[in-house]
Amino acid sequence: MCGVVGYTGKNQAVKFLLDGLQTLEYRGYDSAGVEVVSPSGNLHGVKCAGRVHTLAERCQAANLVGTCGIGHTRWATHGAPTDRNAHPHTDCSGRIAIVHNGIIENYLELKRYLMERGHEFKSDTDSEVIAHLIEEAWNGAARGNLVEAVRVATERLEGSWALACICADVPGQLVVTRKGSPLVVASTTDGAYAASDVMPLASVTSHVIQLNDYDIALLTPDGAVKVYDHDDEEVHHPDTIDIDWDASAATLGGYADFMAKEISEQPEAIERLLKDRLGQHGIELDELKMGNKDLAQIDRIFVIACGTSYHVGLIAKIIIQTWAKIPVFCEYASEFNYEDEVLVTPHTLCVIITQSGETADTLTAARRMKGMGCKVFAITNVLGSSAARESDGTMDIQAGPEVCVASTKAYTAQMVAAVLLALRLAQANGSMDQQEVERHYRDLQQIPDLIREVLKRSWQDQQAAKLFRNAHSALFLGRGVNSTTAYEGALKLKEISYLHAEAYPAGEMKHGPIALLEPGFPVVAIVPADHVHDKTLSNIEECIARGAQVIAVATDGDESVAKLCQHVLWVPPVPDELLVPIVAVVHLQILARYVARARGCDVDKPRNLAKSVTVE
Ligand code: AGP
Ligand code: GLU
Repeated sequence: MCGVVGYTGKNQAVKFLLDGLQTLEYRGYDSAGVEVVSPSGNLHGVKCAGRVHTLAERCQAANLVGTCGIGHTRWATHGAPTDRNAHPHTDCSGRIAIVHNGIIENYLELKRYLMERGHEFKSDTDSEVIAHLIEEAWNGAARGNLVEAVRVATERLEGSWALACICADVPGQLVVTRKGSPLVVASTTDGAYAASDVMPLASVTSHVIQLNDYDIALLTPDGAVKVYDHDDEEVHHPDTIDIDWDASAATLGGYADFMAKEISEQPEAIERLLKDRLGQHGIELDELKMGNKDLAQIDRIFVIACGTSYHVGLIAKIIIQTWAKIPVFCEYASEFNYEDEVLVTPHTLCVIITQSGETADTLTAARRMKGMGCKVFAITNVLGSSAARESDGTMDIQAGPEVCVASTKAYTAQMVAAVLLALRLAQANGSMDQQEVERHYRDLQQIPDLIREVLKRSWQDQQAAKLFRNAHSALFLGRGVNSTTAYEGALKLKEISYLHAEAYPAGEMKHGPIALLEPGFPVVAIVPADHVHDKTLSNIEECIARGAQVIAVATDGDESVAKLCQHVLWVPPVPDELLVPIVAVVHLQILARYVARARGCDVDKPRNLAKSVTVE
């Protein structure tokens, strides 16, 4: 959600700003803009609603020249996505410009105060107050000191921000700060850079500095980065992370879109995650930073997440309860944060699952659990993310950058991480002996090849996608762990194809959704060879009896399904029925992609959605 970039150095700023914004496009946005300090010592900017390529054309026409600048992709929260509301925003003098990601919760009060003092506003955004507050500070005690002006201004803000600011009176200085929204900076011989995440920086450095909340950094054209903390003390050794993938990991590499690429990367991602996990004493999960004694004491677990990651949580709940015999509560972070009663025990563990590591709702939930004395363990794909940094232990799923807004490889890798966690807990509290643990681990090792097999069968999904040609809606059904596969399949379909899809535990269909069925209505039923197979088969019969078009996801050789359904997405036999979701979902990812492409949708950048949802 939203991208912030900044550069000051030897080179023309616009090149990095536009490339950087393009790299951040995956986060989701509706408008974009850049502003530079021109050689004549004035600010010069271009902004517009729409895509970065439109901005790039306009920048070329406007001939933006300057070696210090800021850029932004906006995901509107306050004010419509128009040219006028696009960032950067300037102060009254037009000499200070800012870009902002986040929400200023007290902006109305600040705007009133600033207007009383004669400031004129040009947009409907909450962000614009920041430019005017910096102007106030600049015209007051902070004159000549941009870091100080930003500090004084941000002291008045409530909410969340990743902020970058330039001022024509101190050309070459770029000041950035954050609270609650992500921001990283980098120092190189060509100059200093800032960005919302490491993606735009991968092409210029492999060494990135993490800012903590309230840190303010001054970036100068010699490439220097000075970081000051909340108390205005210089931070001599800020946190750093090394980018361990090269910039090409975030390029298409011959695929039609990132979704296709990321779906195909799943086997390798899972192999990486499973590598060297089985040691002499069973499963090794040192990232938990908890020994056997502490783990054995855990008597309750809260798994908290949003969206696709929440679906991983639902599966984690079943697997942890089944194997480790620990009660698990799985909660949507956005709901959990406003629940009055949270029934924690002295030995409750909180597990947050978040691909981006920056989802605001999930971070708030983690902080709440920490405040209640719980240990927090994060399962994430971004090692330097806020989730990773704020948690007591972090498991990096190592899936590599996921660019497509719709999560695919992170979903399956997160599921594998959750399975490893379940095994580690079961081993620590004695619910499983080592032999059993090893057997489950060996089952898990088969998953990458089973996914490879599903990938070879993508033609089945391509065929099935045709059945959605005239559909207005679709129903996904499954039981047990695979009710979650149904939820995830429906979410994938609606996010990227804009086709309404609803998911239900198959047995619940008769309590309502069955009324939707009519001839030709597409129903995707997940019916692998498991202990609820026959029950689900009966639900399929109920659908067929009403003329629905059933697309089954079934295990190779299942004659009963083959006889009943014309369209089957075949899954090779999976050694443990609890692991089926990791393999079966791959068909639903591919199916959703084919349906979306047939409907002419941009599968990587679905409308209204953001990859990393940094507002609550
Ligand atoms: C996934 O396809 C969605 N775009 C979305 O539901 C996502 O899973 C959710 O926003 C949570 O993101 P996170 O894993 O980065 O916390
Ligand atoms: N709240 C700001 C706005 O609506 C910033 C949104 C964003 O993070 O992109 O302009």
